[in-house]
Amino acid sequence: MPELNWDGKSDALELAKNIPARLLEFDDELSFGDGKNLIVQGDNLVALKSLLPFYRAQVKCVYIDPPYNTGAAFEHYDDNFPHAQWLSMMYPRLKLLREFLSDDGSIWISIDDDEAHYLKVLCDEIFGRNNFVASVVWEKKYSPQNDAKWLSDSHDFILVYARDKNIWRPNLLPRTAEMDARYKNPDNDPRGVWKAGDISAKRLTPKDCYPITTPSGRVVYPPEGTSWRFTQEKFAELVADNRIWFGANGNNVPAVKRFLSDVLSGSVSKTIWFRDEVGDNQEAKREVKALNFVFDTPKPERLIQRILTLATNAGDLVMDCFLGSGTTAAVAHKMNRRYIGVEVGEHAITHVVPRLQKVIGGEQGGISKSVDWTGGGGFKFCRLGEEFLNADGTLNPAVTFERIAEIIWFAETGQSLDEKFSPLIGVHDGRAIYLLFGDENILTTETFLTLPTYKGTKIIYASACRLSERFLREHEIIFRHVPIDLKI
Ligand SMILES: C[S@@+](CC[C@H](N)C(=O)[O-])C[C@H]1O[C@@H](n2cnc3c(N)ncnc32)[C@H](O)[C@@H]1O
Repeated sequence: MPELNWDGKSDALELAKNIPARLLEFDDELSFGDGKNLIVQGDNLVALKSLLPFYRAQVKCVYIDPPYNTGAAFEHYDDNFPHAQWLSMMYPRLKLLREFLSDDGSIWISIDDDEAHYLKVLCDEIFGRNNFVASVVWEKKYSPQNDAKWLSDSHDFILVYARDKNIWRPNLLPRTAEMDARYKNPDNDPRGVWKAGDISAKRLTPKDCYPITTPSGRVVYPPEGTSWRFTQEKFAELVADNRIWFGANGNNVPAVKRFLSDVLSGSVSKTIWFRDEVGDNQEAKREVKALNFVFDTPKPERLIQRILTLATNAGDLVMDCFLGSGTTAAVAHKMNRRYIGVEVGEHAITHVVPRLQKVIGGEQGGISKSVDWTGGGGFKFCRLGEEFLNADGTLNPAVTFERIAEIIWFAETGQSLDEKFSPLIGVHDGRAIYLLFGDENILTTETFLTLPTYKGTKIIYASACRLSERFLREHEIIFRHVPIDLKI
C-alpha cells in the first residue's frame, strides 16, 4: 500500500519505542470522589505509554482535537510546527491510541484543511484503509469572514476510523421532533401517523410497469424509465391492507404509507453536521466563558455529545489525550461514560479540574439540560512520576504491589482489579494468579509452600524462579517474570 513518507518518520517511531513508561502519581488534593475517571497532566506520548498496560484494548471511543498546525500561537499552546514535525508528533501517538481501542471501538479526530489530507493518509496506514468510516464535515462557523484572502473557511473535518469496521457499528441518533412532525394521519389510520413514500423505482422492469386505476377512475403508469416498486400482486395486497394512499380525493398518483411505528427508533447519522444540530466555535467559547475561563479553541459540548452518542453507551470508556479545556471529560461525565483525559498544559489544573468540579456539583451549561444532568461522580488527578523500570531493566523500587497487581490482573483477565489481595491476587477462569513481591519475590520451594493453596493451574509472577521444570509441571505452576512478562 502506498505510504506517506517524510524526513524523521522512522526516528519518530524509534523515539516513541524508547520512551519509558512512568508511574502515575495521584494528587489527592486535585482529585474528587472515588470515580474511575482519570485526568493525567503530562505529555501524551509518555502518558499513553504509561497507561497502556492498564487500558490496552479497553477504550470504546478515542476523540482527539490535536493542534491543527494552523501557524497560530494560542494563549495556552503553540500551533505552529514545521509540517514534517507535526506528522512526527502525530504518528507515534496515533499508533499508541490504536492499541487502546477495543475490538468494537472507534477513533474520531478533529482537524482542518491545513493537515486533514496528510492525516487521512497517515491514518490509513495506522488504522487500515478498510477501517476508514467517514470524514465528517462540521460547520464550525456561520458568519463569512469577509477579510479572508481566499475563501472563508467555515468547516472542520472529523476523521472517523473503526478499530475493525466489520465489527464496529454506530448507534442511531435520537429522532428529533422535527423528523416526527413529517408524519401525519389524514385518513385517521388506527396504526397511527404515517408519511407518504414514492412507489416508483429507478429501474425499468417491464412486468412492473402495469397500469393502476385510482379510486377516481384515472389510470396511471410509472414515470418514464422507471417501474413500480411492487409487483402487481404485492400492490393489490397493500391496497387491501389500506397501505396505499391516493390522496384525499382519490385521484393522486399512489404512494405507500410508511408508519412512524415501523421506522427505526433513531436516525442514521449523516456526514454533514450543521451548527444548529451540534453547535459551533462561538457556542463553545460561550460555554467556557460561562464557566469563567478563557480558552482559544474549545469544542462545543453538543459536538462531543454527538460523537459519544454514536460511538459509546453508558459505562463505556472514552479517551482524549489532547484534552484542552476538558470538554470531552465534561461531556463524558454528564453522559455517564468513564473517561481518561490527558493534557500537558497548566490548564489541566486551571481549567479541567475546576470544570469537572463544577460538573460534579451539577453545573447546568452545555448539554446538561438535554441529559437531565444533576451532578455527582468523581475523578482522580495524577501526574507522570518516576520511570517504571530502572536503566538496567529492573523494577523501580517505588512501584507498588497494587500497581503491578493491576497490570497482571488486566493482562490475565482483561478486567480491572478493584480489591488488591496479596500474594493471591485472585482466581479467574479456573486459574489462580499470584504475585510475589518485596523481600519474598523469588519463587522457591519455600515461598511456594507459604502461598494460599489452589487445586488447579497457578500462574505465579515473581522476579526469578528456582523451581525445576518437573516441580512446575507436577504442581501445575506457570511462572511469569516480573518485569519482563509485564510488557511495560
Ligand atoms: C485544540 S486544543 C483541544 C481543545 C479541546 N478539544 C477543548 O474542547 O477544549 C489542543 C490541546 O492539546 C494540548 N496538547 C498539545 N500537545 C500535547 C501533548 N504532547 N500532550 C498533551 N496535550 C497536548 C494543548 O495544550 C491543547 O490544550
